Amino acid sequence: MIYLDNAATTLLKPAAVGREMLRAMQTCASPGRGGHRAAMRASELVFRCRATAAELFHVPEPENVVFTMNATHALNIAIASLVKPGMRVLISGWEHNAVTRPLKKAGAELLVARAPLFDQAACLKAFRERIGEAEAVVCTMASNVFGFILPISDIAALCEKENVPLIVDASQAAGALDVDFESLRAAFLAMPGHKGLFGPQGTGLLLCREPGEALLAGGSGSDSLLQEMPAYLPDRHEAGTHNVPGIAGLLAGMEYVREKTPAAILREERALLREAVANLADTEAVELFSGPEAAQGGVLSFRIRGRDSDEAARELSERGICLRSGLHCAPLAHESAGTLDTGTLRASFSPFVTDEETRKFCAAVRELSRAPR
Ligand code: ALA
Repeated sequence: MIYLDNAATTLLKPAAVGREMLRAMQTCASPGRGGHRAAMRASELVFRCRATAAELFHVPEPENVVFTMNATHALNIAIASLVKPGMRVLISGWEHNAVTRPLKKAGAELLVARAPLFDQAACLKAFRERIGEAEAVVCTMASNVFGFILPISDIAALCEKENVPLIVDASQAAGALDVDFESLRAAFLAMPGHKGLFGPQGTGLLLCREPGEALLAGGSGSDSLLQEMPAYLPDRHEAGTHNVPGIAGLLAGMEYVREKTPAAILREERALLREAVANLADTEAVELFSGPEAAQGGVLSFRIRGRDSDEAARELSERGICLRSGLHCAPLAHESAGTLDTGTLRASFSPFVTDEETRKFCAAVRELSRAPR
């Protein structure tokens, strides 16, 4: 099997991830639920994961790192905390439904900073032109469909200058791009654990500047007499028993990222992407969505002329190649790129993908593009 759906979930993980999850299941109870050894071990593990995330993403205090189920959960907390009905919220044209649906649910009026794919300067210009109308900004660091890297530092500086609060979606960035919460001055920053951080599904992180509004209520292992969620972080957002095995896996994944460094991971993913682009460039029936190197991470969308994307993905799957097709839960991104009617096929790389696998994938795409329909 050649696994090229890393933008959805990294399937191949460092060996320590599974090992640490099993160890946690067998040795850890619940943090803050008991003073016994197994509970203390869990508390220590959970704190270590929080502290590692704080270090990796430049969060001043580990307490400002909140564990969530995934990035969607984290974005829902952030948006419910900041966005009130009727508020004008400026977003990029590359947002995922994990941003647009919670914004719609919150009753926001959406303003879209529209700009062409892979054009960072035009993207920033579009934000500049509309920031005056906005009461909040929500922006992804990289498109899950096209790997387009948005100029988030400049967008964040603009928000700070104009005094507009910012929520950052780092779903496709964490683990490969420099995610610096302190310098972005964002109100909240959300990320999944199961993509570029190599943790298991069911893990995510929300980095918080302020406590915000609790989405869930329940036991927090603290202030038990209080009938509201504690006002302080991280307890305010961590109702119910933690996913301790998941957090153990996430910690092992983040330790791998820290050791290898996001810059090296990005370099390897980009090299595979460039290899695929060069390999497929002369295949007339294949339309590649690739941009300047600095504007694209390890995600490559493409279409095969005359072929339905979902059907082509099924045929590639029969040849052992796993990728995702369709709209990738991001209709706005497809609308912005002009691919809403067809969707795309998407190959997404990771350091666990080899050159040989990339070449085999390209050969299969070429073969499919020539095969009779
Ligand atoms: N957002 C994930 C993807 O792009 C699930 O596939």
